[in-house]
Amino acid sequence: MSTKISEEKPLKEMPVLPPTSWWLILKNLLSMLSNPLNFLSEWFEEYGDIYDMNSRFFTIYVISNPDYIQEIMVSNKTDYGKSDHYKVLKHSLGNGLLISEGEFWKKQRRIAQPAFHQQSMKNFLETMINSTQNTINKMKGGELVHFSEEMNLLTLDIVTKCLFGTTLNADVNKIQEAITTGNKFISKRARSILKLPMWLPLPAIIRYKRARKFSDKVIFDIIDKRRNDNSEQQDLLSMLMYTVDEETGESMSAQQLRDEAITLFVAGQETTATALTWTFSLLMKHPEKLKILQEEIDSVLQGKAPDFKTLKELKYTQMVLEESMRIYPPAWVIARKVLKETQMCGYRMKKDAQLILNVYSLHRHTDHWENPEDFEPQRFNPQAKKERHKHAYIPFGAGQRMCIGNNFAMMEMKIALSMLLQNFEFSLPEDAVDVEAEPLVTLRPKGGLRLNICGK
Ligand code: HEM
Repeated sequence: MSTKISEEKPLKEMPVLPPTSWWLILKNLLSMLSNPLNFLSEWFEEYGDIYDMNSRFFTIYVISNPDYIQEIMVSNKTDYGKSDHYKVLKHSLGNGLLISEGEFWKKQRRIAQPAFHQQSMKNFLETMINSTQNTINKMKGGELVHFSEEMNLLTLDIVTKCLFGTTLNADVNKIQEAITTGNKFISKRARSILKLPMWLPLPAIIRYKRARKFSDKVIFDIIDKRRNDNSEQQDLLSMLMYTVDEETGESMSAQQLRDEAITLFVAGQETTATALTWTFSLLMKHPEKLKILQEEIDSVLQGKAPDFKTLKELKYTQMVLEESMRIYPPAWVIARKVLKETQMCGYRMKKDAQLILNVYSLHRHTDHWENPEDFEPQRFNPQAKKERHKHAYIPFGAGQRMCIGNNFAMMEMKIALSMLLQNFEFSLPEDAVDVEAEPLVTLRPKGGLRLNICGK
């Protein structure tokens, strides 16, 4: 149901960023492009949890208030759609779940959903444990590890095996490189005001196209291999491949399969690796929290690998991961667009306005989080969670477009975190500097994270 603009009730004035001269407006936009995290945080402090960016090129509202998020993503969701930013992603992800809308999205989501139900999760458990064990075996000989890279490779291996029931034939490092090249190019393009045509033979465009061609080939090879393989598989690719649309009787085209597959691949890999890396980075700085975590893991798992039952008992482990994603939400902004003139909690929302849902600042909103910069996993104990606004914390989004892989990701991260801490003691190298957050498609630790490891 859409919220009509009431003639009688006066609408509230939305704060507007002050610059009036063209020069200042341009400066604001450029600042936003060069260092979005710093500027969004500064403007949040100065102008609050809703403001108009006062760009004369477009209307952009920046929002970080749980009531407004609830209205946009849940109560009045039909007045909003995916923003124009997603059009840039469309170039690499096609019309997959993250981008598609309307009836088509609903149908695709219905098809994909069962692959993330409890029963499928049970099938994925063993794969996740085996992949983590392989990473542990690989890390065993080393002393100093490029931890963020290891987490990237681990989550890549897990997403590939669980969703496509296969290992990658191609060199994993090359795939990793292709995904990183694609992500960097797309996130820069999404932020730039002037979008140069993709046919221009510029080095960055050529590099991006080469990376896309490579990852497409990997996915199409997996699809082809599966079409020629008669054995029954319980993975997502099979579900997508063999489900027939009730209305048209058609199955998914190879192109649509590719779009869904690459979407799951991209959406599910870097986000999880990033969250795991930040979790270790935070734990290194908070040895007292690491100690509590270590005690829980030792007492619940008793030296064994986790199973479905013990995973549920790892309650502090869950809280640590949740708190880590509060401080460093991998999806640090979520973008939407106003589809038709409407009102939101008393504010007029102009048609076609772009919305930046500033998750990073929402997770630091002092009305909902005390001392938000502190790492305090106890914020996520059941009682505290119950008392807090439901939409003050949205690392996986909210409403009908909420992340389809949230349970998958939580299980994967709990397994990786607990098994790594069972096997190693980690510490920061002596020359370690504070890790800075780099806001690309995900909020990455700039330059990655290196850790010393010592086998137990
Ligand atoms: C820590 C890990 C993850 C984080 C933080 C995360 C975050 C998010 C967020 C915020 C959204 C909503 C985007 C929006 O509303 O515009 C989303 C959607 C999505 N995520 Fe995740 N995600 C994670 C892991 C995964 C995994 C493991 C998968 C799959 C294996 C996955 C697949 C997807 C898909 C397909 C969508 C689109 C859903 C739809 O619109 O129907 N994500 N994710």
